Amino acid sequence: MRPSHFFFFTVLQLGASVARASVTVYGQQRFGDQLKSLVSSTTSSAAAASYTGSAAYNPTVLNAPPVPNPPPPTKFFQQLSSAPVPGLSIPQSGNFYGLSVEFSVANQLINMYSTRLAVPFLNSLANLQARGGSVRVRVGGNTQDYATMVPSLPNGTMFLKETLDPAVSTTTPPVLFTPDFLYMLANISALVNVEWYLGIPLNDTSNLRLQIAEAAESILGDKLIGFQVGNEPDEYAEHGHRPLTYGPADYSADFGTVDAALRADPNVPVVNKKLIGPSLSGRWQPQEVWDVNFIPDHLPSLAALSMQFYPENNCVAQTNGSNAPGAVNPQDVFPTYLNHTSGQAIAAKYLNRRVMTTFSTVLAQTFNLPFIMLETNSASCGGFVGVSNSFGSALWALDYGLQLAYSNFSNAFLHIGGQGEYYNVPPPGNQTSFREWTVGPVFYSIMGVAETFGNSNKSRIIDLQMNGNNEFTPGYAVYDGDVLARLALFNYVTDPSGASEITVSFAIGGGATGQANGTPAQVKVKYLLAPSVSSLNNITWAGQTFGPSLSSDGRPTGNETIQTVTCNTNNTCDVTIPAPGFALVFLTDIPGDSESFDAVETFSTTTLRSKTQTQSTATVVVNPSVLATANGQPGTNFVDASTSKGKAKTAAAVQFLPHLTVAICVALGVVSMMW
Ligand SMILES: *[C@@H]1O[C@H](CO)[C@@H](O)[C@H](O)[C@H]1NC(C)=O
Ligand SMILES: *[C@@H]1O[C@H](CO)[C@@H](O)[C@H](O)[C@H]1NC(C)=O
Ligand SMILES: *[C@@H]1O[C@H](CO)[C@@H](O)[C@H](O)[C@H]1NC(C)=O
Ligand SMILES: *[C@@H]1O[C@H](CO)[C@@H](O)[C@H](O)[C@H]1NC(C)=O
Ligand SMILES: *[C@@H]1O[C@H](CO)[C@@H](O)[C@H](O)[C@H]1NC(C)=O
Ligand SMILES: *[C@@H]1O[C@H](CO)[C@@H](O)[C@H](O)[C@H]1NC(C)=O
Ligand SMILES: *[C@@H]1O[C@H](CO)[C@@H](O)[C@H](O)[C@H]1NC(C)=O
Ligand SMILES: *[C@@H]1O[C@H](CO)[C@@H](O)[C@H](O)[C@H]1NC(C)=O
Ligand SMILES: *[C@@H]1O[C@H](CO)[C@@H](O)[C@H](O)[C@H]1NC(C)=O
Ligand SMILES: *[C@@H]1O[C@H](CO)[C@@H](O)[C@H](O)[C@H]1NC(C)=O
Ligand SMILES: *[C@@H]1O[C@H](CO)[C@@H](O)[C@H](O)[C@H]1NC(C)=O
Repeated sequence: MRPSHFFFFTVLQLGASVARASVTVYGQQRFGDQLKSLVSSTTSSAAAASYTGSAAYNPTVLNAPPVPNPPPPTKFFQQLSSAPVPGLSIPQSGNFYGLSVEFSVANQLINMYSTRLAVPFLNSLANLQARGGSVRVRVGGNTQDYATMVPSLPNGTMFLKETLDPAVSTTTPPVLFTPDFLYMLANISALVNVEWYLGIPLNDTSNLRLQIAEAAESILGDKLIGFQVGNEPDEYAEHGHRPLTYGPADYSADFGTVDAALRADPNVPVVNKKLIGPSLSGRWQPQEVWDVNFIPDHLPSLAALSMQFYPENNCVAQTNGSNAPGAVNPQDVFPTYLNHTSGQAIAAKYLNRRVMTTFSTVLAQTFNLPFIMLETNSASCGGFVGVSNSFGSALWALDYGLQLAYSNFSNAFLHIGGQGEYYNVPPPGNQTSFREWTVGPVFYSIMGVAETFGNSNKSRIIDLQMNGNNEFTPGYAVYDGDVLARLALFNYVTDPSGASEITVSFAIGGGATGQANGTPAQVKVKYLLAPSVSSLNNITWAGQTFGPSLSSDGRPTGNETIQTVTCNTNNTCDVTIPAPGFALVFLTDIPGDSESFDAVETFSTTTLRSKTQTQSTATVVVNPSVLATANGQPGTNFVDASTSKGKAKTAAAVQFLPHLTVAICVALGVVSMMW
């Protein structure tokens, strides 16, 4: 080990001493400038109408739906039980909501080489880890089925998109990738507690390509939590690589073929509890797959049962234009995302509430398998402009995620498809330099769900069906362990007059076991707010924001604001929720958990001075003792506390210093970042 005063390295020293294990966090040149000025100049609806840039940054703003008629009651009482109540979900983790990254855009989001990681992406992950303890990311999608791992590509490239084969019906060309892609994921997991779901290609069972499984198991170790076998097999006949008769029994047989091949492959040591299926898009009902004995036939290998579902699609407009016959008008569907029924209706497909499907999440529990929504978002084929990128989608995704958790899903993954989509969490792209990322509204939903569950992995949630089960004002209660810990309260209505603000009055009572009154003297409240459900910007979580399009480095800015509400002398507490808004109410302090994340240490893109140098070194230093324990610890400090609050670089300075380097010296136990 080097002595501890060697924390500071120059680029040259690093280049010489740690070439093998160095990781560069790389900010690209400001390709986004032109696009950024286009976005900021198009605030009028006329300019929005003439917008021709990428979907991900489209500035079109819809009209918020009117106040419902009748309006929801604005003041109501909710009795709560301090003891756990019947109907709670299974224990949930703060990693409930994860990111699903389309395979073909992984290099744009995460970055180009294992030694270059995108700072904004790392920051996004660090923010989630601080809140939920760990993060899960799935890399896959339609493009995984055609992907092939090769030992190397020209010029050390990690990803190469082949020329599009017109015979293949996906619109994205097949991807060739190298093991460097998996090293990149491993390097992320060395910095943030990220677990990965990957996919084994299944476009062709006579030519199985198992290389990803062979390499991922050795490179990612226990950070690899499962391989998806087949992406939406119920779409395979339509995609043209299976006969029209392809059905659930055929899929189950294909799954078995992959399973057997993996077990016969000496380079894939672990197959038990590593495979995921059936990942249906919804053409086949889950029950049709259960009926062919899928679960018992593959039980030893199954890591989880999976589904992939979008409540709507924008395929006609995406393919043939928004004026084509049958194209969905985003303004028309906007209200269908702005109530509690939306998430409930999706969850119901996997519960016993509808004909044709039975007990899927109950069935999963009987086999002791997690049931996961491996890919989802507001609408397939890119989402809807003004809907999928609005504050309304943040409320929708937050309620939907909590509803899936209440319905005994174990994870759900919001999809990121690229700059051509409206629904991205952060969209990937080349505008990845300093403060040039766009953090989509649903990223706030992922943070909100992470905080709702916290980091114990023991939170159970119940839908309170409060306010007479009014669909515009849903609420949930969370028991962390056996302690009533948090309330998640929504107001879907937009009403600038203030008349639709709701006040939830609650008391915590004895419950089943008859304890004394449990209403606390005060509670703490964090709000997710924006002026309207149609707002694209101006979204704040506890007063902090990622800012408008193309302006974030993945860290929230502004001061964190946590409200303290003093409860009433008659043992009730009144919490107001603006219209629109979401409130997370902290009822008690949970040991080891925090409601404040103001000081989350992320991957600072700041210029700092060392203690011994008077000139700016542009070097951020990570305390080696922190690195030693970094892997897996919630709230990890990546940047030495004494240096992390450095003054942010201005964008102008970045133009001269476009590269941010994070070098990890694993052998020496030292991490440093530099421009
Ligand atoms: C499956 O994908 C691979 C890689 O893209 C391709 O070479 C092969 O032709 C595909 N097979 C079928 C049946 O589509
Ligand atoms: C590899 O890099 C060289 C030099 O930059 C370039 O001329 C060549 O086209 C590259 N090859 C590929 C396949 O990208
Ligand atoms: C990071 O990637 C490099 C390859 O560039 C690899 O040698 C190293 O083992 C990776 N680090 C971890 C912790 O996996
Ligand atoms: C687009 O239009 C073509 C020609 O009218 C039609 O065949 C096709 O189904 C349409 N695509 C979608 C997704 O609606
Ligand atoms: C509520 O959402 C459901 C499901 O998305 C939708 O069918 C219904 O029309 C919505 N209700 C209102 C009043 O918009
Ligand atoms: C979720 O699972 C728990 C534990 O098995 C059960 O009590 C509860 O009813 C389930 N919830 C739903 C909505 O099915
Ligand atoms: C970056 O994105 C812009 C806008 O989409 C595009 O015009 C440009 O060609 C891209 N540059 C690179 C290097 O990909
Ligand atoms: C919760 O689960 C995550 C992911 O599996 C794990 O990394 C973490 O250590 C667990 N936390 C606790 C407190 O058990
Ligand atoms: C909303 O955000 C825009 C763009 O950042 C800003 O110009 C505007 O002042 C904000 N409006 C409010 C009400 O905060
Ligand atoms: C944040 O708080 C600090 C200290 O209280 C204050 O100086 C600063 O102006 C605040 N910043 C914002 C954006 O409100
Ligand atoms: C409790 O006190 C508050 C504040 O004084 C009042 O608004 C509320 O109606 C009271 N509730 C009950 C049940 O008496």
